[in-house]
Amino acid sequence: MAARGAIRQGVETVRSVVRFGTVETDPVARRLAKAASVADLRRIAKRRLPRGCFDYIDGGAEDERTLEANSKAFAETRFVPRVLRGLPDVEIGASVLGAPVPYPLVLAPTGFTRIADPQGELAVARAAERAGLPYTLSTLSTRSIEEVRGVSDGRLWFQVYAWRDRGLVEEMVQRAAAARYEALVLTVDTAVFGRRERDVRRGFSLPPVIGPSTVVDGILHPAWTWSFLRNEPIRFANVVGRSVGDGSSPVTLADYINSQFDPALSWDDIDWLRSVWDGKIVVKGIQCVADAVLAADQGVDAIALSNHGGRQLDGSPATLSLVAPVADAVGDRTEIICDGGVRRGSDIVKAVAAGATACMAGRGYLYALGAGGEQGVDTLLGWWRDDVRRTMSLIGAASVDELDRSLIDLDRLHP
Ligand SMILES: Cc1cc2nc3c(=O)[nH]c(=O)nc-3n(C[C@H](O)[C@H](O)[C@H](O)COP(=O)(O)O)c2cc1C
Repeated sequence: MAARGAIRQGVETVRSVVRFGTVETDPVARRLAKAASVADLRRIAKRRLPRGCFDYIDGGAEDERTLEANSKAFAETRFVPRVLRGLPDVEIGASVLGAPVPYPLVLAPTGFTRIADPQGELAVARAAERAGLPYTLSTLSTRSIEEVRGVSDGRLWFQVYAWRDRGLVEEMVQRAAAARYEALVLTVDTAVFGRRERDVRRGFSLPPVIGPSTVVDGILHPAWTWSFLRNEPIRFANVVGRSVGDGSSPVTLADYINSQFDPALSWDDIDWLRSVWDGKIVVKGIQCVADAVLAADQGVDAIALSNHGGRQLDGSPATLSLVAPVADAVGDRTEIICDGGVRRGSDIVKAVAAGATACMAGRGYLYALGAGGEQGVDTLLGWWRDDVRRTMSLIGAASVDELDRSLIDLDRLHP
C-alpha cells in the first residue's frame, strides 16, 4: 500500500518536471536559441566566419585601446537606481532627427557587410525596418543605395566619405535623394586609414581572397565558403564599374581609402554638402568638445560622437566619456548620437541618461548577422528593445525624457 503510494508520488513528481518540447528543425533558429547576449553572438560568429573576416569585423586600430575603452566606459558607469516610483509601465519611445523611434537606436554604417552574410545590407535594412529603427548604409556597402531602398520602406540614412572625386560624392548624394534617404552621415574620422593590425597580419583584402594562405581557413568554415562562392561577387556596390575601383580585384582597405579619400576634408565641405543636399546632415566622428561646438555652430542636425568603433585613431577617448561634456557645451542646438561600444540595451540607457539623443551600434548587428543572418539581427534588435524597457523599469524611469544624470554615476569617467 505504502509502496504503491510512493510510486504514484514518484510518477507525479516526474510528470511535473519532465517536458519534451518540439525539436527545432531550423538550424539557424537552433543556433540562435543557444544565444542570450551579444557576447554569445560574437562567439558563434567567430566559429562560423573565416578568421580574416571575423577579425576585420571584430578588430580595431593598433593596440585596440580605444576599442576596449568604448566598452569599458559603459561597464564602469553604474546606475543610481530609484525604486518605489509606482511605474506600472515605461515608455521607451524616443525621437531621432525629429521623427519617432521605438527606442533610441540607429544602426551604424558598416562597409562590406556581405562578408558576414550573403544578404548583407539587405538583411540588415529589412530587420531595421521591422524594428522601426533607422539604418545607415555605408558608402562602401556591398549592396547599392537603390537595392537597399528596394527592400525597405523604412528610415534610411546614407553615410558619405569624402572621395577625392567630389563629382562622385555629388552623384551618390543625388542617388540617395532620389531613393528617399532621409539623412546624410558625413564620416570625418577617416582622413587616412587607421592601422588595423589584425588585417595587416592576415594580409586581409576586400573582397577576401582564397589562396594558399587562406585555403585552410576556407575549408575550416565550409558553410561560409560555400555561400561566398555560390553568390554573386562581393563589390563596392555604389561604385560598380567606376574608375575609382569597385573591389572586383582584391584590394586592402588601407590602399583603397588612402588613394581614394580626401585627407584635406574641412569644415567648408559641410557647406558644400549642404549645397548639394536638402535633407538632414549628421557629422560622424566628432571626438572632442571643441569640434562638437564647431559642428553645432555649423547648424548640423546631429553629431555622432564616434571613434569609428576604435578602428581609426587608437588613443581617442571612449565615446561615452564625451557625451556629458558635449551635451553641456552644445545644449539643444544639435542632437547627440553616442556611437561605439554598445553591446546591451542598458548601454543605450546609460548614454541617453548622460545626455545623448540616441546611440549608434555597428559590431553588435554584424555579430548577429554572422551568427544567424537576418534572423540574428531580428533577435538582437528585439533583445535590445526589451533590455531598454527592463533597465528603465529597474532604475525607475517612466520615459526616455526622465533619463538624466541623477540615474547614473559618471564619477569613474569624469573623476
Ligand atoms: C566592420 C566595420 C565596418 C565599418 N565601416 C564603416 C563605414 O563604412 N563607414 C563608417 O562611417 N563607419 C564604419 N564603421 C564604424 C561604425 O559605423 C561604428 O562607428 C562603429 O562600429 C561603432 O562601434 P561598435 O562597433 O562598437 O558599435 C565600421 C565598423 C565596423 C565594425
